[in-house]
Amino acid sequence: MENHRSRWFDVQSVPKSHIFSHEDRPGKEPVPVCRTIPIVDLGLQRLEMVRKIIEASREFGLFQVINHGMEESVIVEAIRVFKELFSMPAEEILKEANESGWVYMGSTSHGTKGGANLWRDNIKHPCHPLEECMKHWPRNPTRYREVIERYIVEIRRLSLRVLELISEGLGLEEGYLGGISQVQILTASNYPPCPDPSLTLGVLKHVDHSLITILAQGNARGLQVFKDGKWLGVEVVPNAFVVNIGSQLEIISNGKLRGAEHRVVTNQEVARTTIATFINPVPDCIIQPAEVLLTNSNPALYPPLSFREFVNANKAFGPHTDALQNGVISKISS
Ligand code: OGA
Ligand code: NI
Repeated sequence: MENHRSRWFDVQSVPKSHIFSHEDRPGKEPVPVCRTIPIVDLGLQRLEMVRKIIEASREFGLFQVINHGMEESVIVEAIRVFKELFSMPAEEILKEANESGWVYMGSTSHGTKGGANLWRDNIKHPCHPLEECMKHWPRNPTRYREVIERYIVEIRRLSLRVLELISEGLGLEEGYLGGISQVQILTASNYPPCPDPSLTLGVLKHVDHSLITILAQGNARGLQVFKDGKWLGVEVVPNAFVVNIGSQLEIISNGKLRGAEHRVVTNQEVARTTIATFINPVPDCIIQPAEVLLTNSNPALYPPLSFREFVNANKAFGPHTDALQNGVISKISS
């Protein structure tokens, strides 16, 4: 039987609980889609790819990849499975989360900056090493594990490939970045249509606490990147992944690459479902500028900090307060 119970987002106007401050809300000024954020074809000649990726990572902290080798059906199925999951009644999702130990955040439970709630539902769980993590994944929808396993195997491969190209472009030894990317956290978000997108946010402005993040943004716009004091809309490119540089890679590159400041806005028409995979170090890994990049005229700009210390020092608010999970779920927000 279909479930007709109303959900938090079935409203005619935005409730006070979801209205952001004037400073944070998108407002009514339109944000144009930026056509110059590079789209890197992973079938290009290697030097060409490396050059494009480094340039994009310096300028925007963000680029898209196409021709990445993942079949379209794997991405489409993964997004479909999350759409199904988010359409389950909230209590059912929460029950499932409590039993299996993954984190589920309904929109009313975020407690972000200024107390306003994000316009999204979100689930989060570790996904590497796969065998260990899978035991804690959702059992419902019933094909969840099978579909997401396929997706994650491919994402692992893609992330190592991208990290290798970045290592090369920075002049780091082979495997340098791959070696410290031992944790992967999957987070899927559902941003329902919103009666007034000028007042709300799907995600507040932030930089991911990752090395890199690989995002499948489905077929709806919403992601924006902050550059030179302005917001730019990230284009929706069918079948592409958005790669953004996280704070840990900004540190390792000694500021040569920039962590992308980004946010998510909502829209009135369609639900937007995305899958972000954060490629992270283990909590005790000390992250610092790579030694080979440092010279007298280019001294270290960042102090060495374990990933754990970094996250704890930067977790005043925002969507990444549980970036540290590595196989063990620390807490369920409810
Ligand atoms: C995030 C994020 C972007 C999106 O979860 O950190 O930036 O489009 N998500 O869902
Ligand atoms: Ni993010």
